[in-house]
Amino acid sequence: MTVILDGKLLADKITQNLKKKTSGLKVKPKLAVILAGDNPASLIYVRNKQKRAEEIGFETLFLPMPKDVSEENLLENIYILNEMKEVNAILVQLPLPSHINKFSVIEAIAPEKDVDCFNSINVGKLLCGYSPYVPPCTPKGIIRLFDNYNIELEGKNVLVIGRSNIVGKPLSVMFQARNATVTAAHSKTKNLKEIALNSDIIVSAAGCANLVTADFVKEGAVVVDVGINRVNDRLRGDVDFENVAPKTSYITPVPGGVGPMTIAMLMENTLELYQIQNHN
Ligand code: GUN
Repeated sequence: MTVILDGKLLADKITQNLKKKTSGLKVKPKLAVILAGDNPASLIYVRNKQKRAEEIGFETLFLPMPKDVSEENLLENIYILNEMKEVNAILVQLPLPSHINKFSVIEAIAPEKDVDCFNSINVGKLLCGYSPYVPPCTPKGIIRLFDNYNIELEGKNVLVIGRSNIVGKPLSVMFQARNATVTAAHSKTKNLKEIALNSDIIVSAAGCANLVTADFVKEGAVVVDVGINRVNDRLRGDVDFENVAPKTSYITPVPGGVGPMTIAMLMENTLELYQIQNHN
């Protein structure tokens, strides 16, 4: 029997819990969000994040910037946010306009306010097995889903498709820390199908619709779909859900799987940074 990993349901529970915790706080956690440019998808993501933060009772500071904003101006704003005591968490929505060096921007964020775990100090800690200030949102959300459904990771063959800094790379590290045997696949990987057929767990974060088809998946595997692809104006993951689902033991839907968990973890990270900064 196939179980749908209901990210929306779990994210709603986490949100309610965060709301309760926040209602008891005199000073509210504050999340600052920078959006440079007018990428329509980014605008929707940022609005959703802001809306959710306000629902929980956090304060938000939204800094929209034109697409021709200079790198100096963007960095200057980050330095100001780093210094503002009342700002606990800083998020710079990616992608950035192409004239801006994203690494300079990410490195400018104070590690103790880096809500995405993008800064190299935090990524380095994650890699070394020390705790970063907070773990990265999407990988944290995926592991929380596994834990919530009691899906064992230890000793499992896990295939992670995609090596982005946001999902694939940190997720591979976090799965290894949970004693999984990880294969990190990417666009140049040979024999992807063969590796997939030998995997107990497949996570696809490639951004390629219909990449994972039923012939890639062994009976009883767990499949997690991180893809967000627009196909004929419809939202699609990387997985051919209709044909893959019947072969799996657990599978995430798109929408309603990983997406809501990412936002819930962003909210949880905001509260955790607040607690670290306020020593409680
Ligand atoms: N762009 C796509 N995903 C993310 C994310 O998780 N955080 C930020 N800051 N930008 C993104």
